[in-house]
Amino acid sequence: MTVFAHSSFSEHELVAFHHDRRSGLNAIIAVHSTALGPAVGGCRMYPYAAEADALHDVLRLSRGMTYKSALAGLPFGGGKSVIIGDPRKQKSRALLEAMGDFVHSLGGCYITAEDVGTDVADIRAMARRTPYVAGLDDNEHGGDPSPSTAYGVFLGIRAAARHRYGKESLNDFAVSIQGLGHVGFKLARLLIEDGATVYGADINATNLERAAEELGVRPISSDEVLFLPADVVAPCAMGAVWNADSISKLRTGIVCGAANNQLATPEDGERLRQSGVLYCPDFVVNAGGIIEAHHQRQCSSECDRLAHIGRIETTLAEVFRLSRDRQVSTELVAKEMAEDILRARDGTNQSIAA
Ligand code: NAI
Repeated sequence: MTVFAHSSFSEHELVAFHHDRRSGLNAIIAVHSTALGPAVGGCRMYPYAAEADALHDVLRLSRGMTYKSALAGLPFGGGKSVIIGDPRKQKSRALLEAMGDFVHSLGGCYITAEDVGTDVADIRAMARRTPYVAGLDDNEHGGDPSPSTAYGVFLGIRAAARHRYGKESLNDFAVSIQGLGHVGFKLARLLIEDGATVYGADINATNLERAAEELGVRPISSDEVLFLPADVVAPCAMGAVWNADSISKLRTGIVCGAANNQLATPEDGERLRQSGVLYCPDFVVNAGGIIEAHHQRQCSSECDRLAHIGRIETTLAEVFRLSRDRQVSTELVAKEMAEDILRARDGTNQSIAA
C-alpha cells in the first residue's frame, strides 16, 4: 500500500494512522489542505474489506472537503477520518474516546463531525476527549446537518432545471432518489412540496416504507432507481455510482444528489457531459451541512444561514455557464474554481490531481 505515490494523494498535507491497543481502534485521519483554515470533515466508520480501501476513501473524501469548503466560501480546509470497523458491531465508548484522543493529538488542524456510520452521539463521545468537533450544539438534534444538506441539493436541482429546461418551478417534474435516509427523505419532502413527483428506492425497507407513507414517495426497486426515465436522478446513498456502464444506461437530463464522490473516476464527469447529462458536482451541491456547522459555531441568524446556503444556486449557475462555454465537464470546472480560490489564498501552485 503506497501513500505518497497513491493515485488520490494529491498533495495531502498530512495523513496519520493510529492504532489503540485497548479499544482496538484502527483509524486514519487525512488533512488535504489547511490553506483556508482548519480542515473540517466527518468521521466515517465502515467495515472496509482492506486497509487500502480505507486509505483510498479517506484521501478522496478529504480532498472533496477542501473543494466543498472553498467553493462555499467557508474559512475551512479539507480533511476526513475513517475508522475501520463495523459500526453496528464494533462501536464502543472506549473506541470513540480513543478516536477523540487521536483527533486531539493533531492539535486542532483537523475538526471532526458525523458521517456515514457515525452520529451525533458518537461525536459527543469523542468530544469528551477533544474540543475539535463540529455539528454539535446544546440541542441533541440541533447538530444534524442533513436538513441543510437536503435544502442545498434542492436548490441545486432548481438551478439545474432552470439551466437545462428553462423551468423556474419543479411542478410536474419526476425525480428519482436513491437512498431515503437522513438527506434523501428530507429532499423528497422539499421536492414534493414544490410539486414534483418523487420515485425512490432504499435497501432499508423501513426507510422506504416511511417515505411512501409519510410523503407519498412512489417506491421502485434499487436496481431501477438510477435508470428511471425521470427529469432528475438524485443519488443520496453511497459514492462511485457513475461509471461507463451506469452512465450508458441513464435516461435523465440531470444528475443532482447528495452522495459524496459520485464519479468512480475523473473521466466519468466528461462521460456524463458527452451523454448529454447535466451533472451537478457533489461537492458543490452537498455543502449545506458544512455551511450549517459554520453558522452554528458563529451563532448566526437563520436569515444569514439560509442566504449562505442559497449561494449554492449561484455557484452552480456559474459552473454550468463555464462548462457550456468551454465544452468541458462541470466536475472539472468546479475543481478549477476551487483550486483558484486556494491559489489566491496561499500563493501555491496546487494542481488538479486525477
Ligand atoms: P444515511 O445513511 O442516513 O442514508 C443513506 C440511505 O441510503 C440509507 O437509508 C441506506 O439504506 C440507503 N442505501 C444505501 N445503499 C443503497 C442502495 N444501493 N440503494 C438504495 N439505497 C441505499 O446517509 P445520509 O446522511 O442521508 O447521507 C447520504 C449521502 O450524502 C452520503 O453519501 C453522505 O456522505 C452524503 N452527505 C451527507 C451529508 C449529511 O448532511 N448527512 C452531507 C454531505 C454529504
